[in-house]
Amino acid sequence: MRIFRSKLQPHEAAADLLVVGAFEGAELAAPLAKLDALIGGHLKAHVEAEEFKARNGSTLAMHTHGKLPQRKLLVLGLGDRKTFTTADLRAAAARAVRAAEAQHAKKLALWLPLDKVGPAAEAIKALAEGAMLAGYRYEKYKEDKNGRLEELFVLGPSTLAPKAFDAALGLGMLFADASMYARDLVNTPALDMHPATFVQEALTLAVGQKRMSITVYGRPELQKMGCGGILAVAQGSMHEPKMVHLAYKPANAKKRVVLVGKGVTFDSGGLSIKPADGMMDMKIDMAGAAAVLAVFKALPFLKLPIEVHGIAALVENMPSGTAIRPGDIVKTMSGKTIEILNTDAEGRVTLADTLFYGTTLKPDLMVDLATLTGACMVALGQDISGLMTDDNKLAGRLEDAAQAAGEPVWRLPLFADYAELVKSRHADVKNIGGGRYGGAITAGLFLKEFVGETPWAHLDIAGPAYNEKDYNDERSWGASGYGARLLLEFLKKI
Ligand code: BES
Ligand code: MN
Ligand code: ZN
Repeated sequence: MRIFRSKLQPHEAAADLLVVGAFEGAELAAPLAKLDALIGGHLKAHVEAEEFKARNGSTLAMHTHGKLPQRKLLVLGLGDRKTFTTADLRAAAARAVRAAEAQHAKKLALWLPLDKVGPAAEAIKALAEGAMLAGYRYEKYKEDKNGRLEELFVLGPSTLAPKAFDAALGLGMLFADASMYARDLVNTPALDMHPATFVQEALTLAVGQKRMSITVYGRPELQKMGCGGILAVAQGSMHEPKMVHLAYKPANAKKRVVLVGKGVTFDSGGLSIKPADGMMDMKIDMAGAAAVLAVFKALPFLKLPIEVHGIAALVENMPSGTAIRPGDIVKTMSGKTIEILNTDAEGRVTLADTLFYGTTLKPDLMVDLATLTGACMVALGQDISGLMTDDNKLAGRLEDAAQAAGEPVWRLPLFADYAELVKSRHADVKNIGGGRYGGAITAGLFLKEFVGETPWAHLDIAGPAYNEKDYNDERSWGASGYGARLLLEFLKKI
């Protein structure tokens, strides 16, 4: 989909569908008046007959009787103007695109009262994000592909100058593009998305890119570095483990940030094997790594004065004659040993090495994203990630970024007393914490053992990484790309 700014009035913009946004109450009539006159009063009559009140998200569709340059007209309710937010605008654009696709439209003209939503640039950016994300579909493996909306013309009054308007649209498209790239990576079946193919994606993205470098570690290098955690999880699989380290180094860097993603390309549970139902979606277990890679796709265009490192260990967790066994003890890069009591708690074992590697870069701060625990979904549901950190300032910045991105987080405590629960009798730590309770937190506390003094935050994205059903118009069934835009917002405001 391509998005264009247009100076035309709604009745002038040739398209298959015209969508006009209207606030409820006294403000409903104004944007419709001219159109109503052109259609000979049918629009007003229709609004009254259907008792259309323009509640937020409601829609009213009608034919244009050949009186307008669009076949159909859809009035999109925006609700109360006083409570209308940037997120609502993102949702409105998404709804408009969904409506257009339902009508097999190729061209959509969208008029929204853009001058009534502040701050203007953020609103336009959100609009572009909503439109792009709503148009996302993963159809690579389908012969019978759906038709797509091709062009979106954004109409409506804005307080932004044309140049700033276009820049905001561009930024929205860039962010949405990162999300969709992450979705593609996560939606790809594990048959075709294993450690080597993920590495290939990273190489394609980084090689030849100015100020970007990439290092890939295979089994021999991981052995040399002493990454016993990564090696242990991978040893049941036919796929060689890899660690990818991307670095973006602008000349004027003021801060150094390390982003870490869990990259388990398939999680069968290993010998502590998952039941069939629990395994069905486990190609998504590299969603953290996908979000980090997606950030690097967008970084060169953002020109931020920050040095950013992205690290992910790519492994497949499989049961086999060579697999790691419950009770095995492995030594990590940090020197600490882990007793592996449940091979299905594999993410934290790989992250032990990956996070420690991250600390050796001496960053100002480090953030990891991981589809780490089912317990986090029990605590927060499927739409919210668990944010864990001892650093209140960092927590606040991540909460702000989550808010701006529309990717919700909620903080869980790294409650110090629970640290006992991951101590092992035979090794330094064990990879399960006590019993069933507080599983997201004990996993976070396990990770904390490997970050030393580095300011660090952990996001357990097991819930929002994947939508079992449509979450909303912009986040449809399948991989959500969760985290990519959150991280970009975070970096943008450092
Ligand atoms: N990848 C899973 C967590 C997960 C579950 C992500 C559902 C997305 C959806 C993780 O590796 C796992 O299996 N965790 C175990 C830990 C337990 C064995 C301590 C879990 O949550 O059951
Ligand atoms: Mn697991
Ligand atoms: Zn896992």
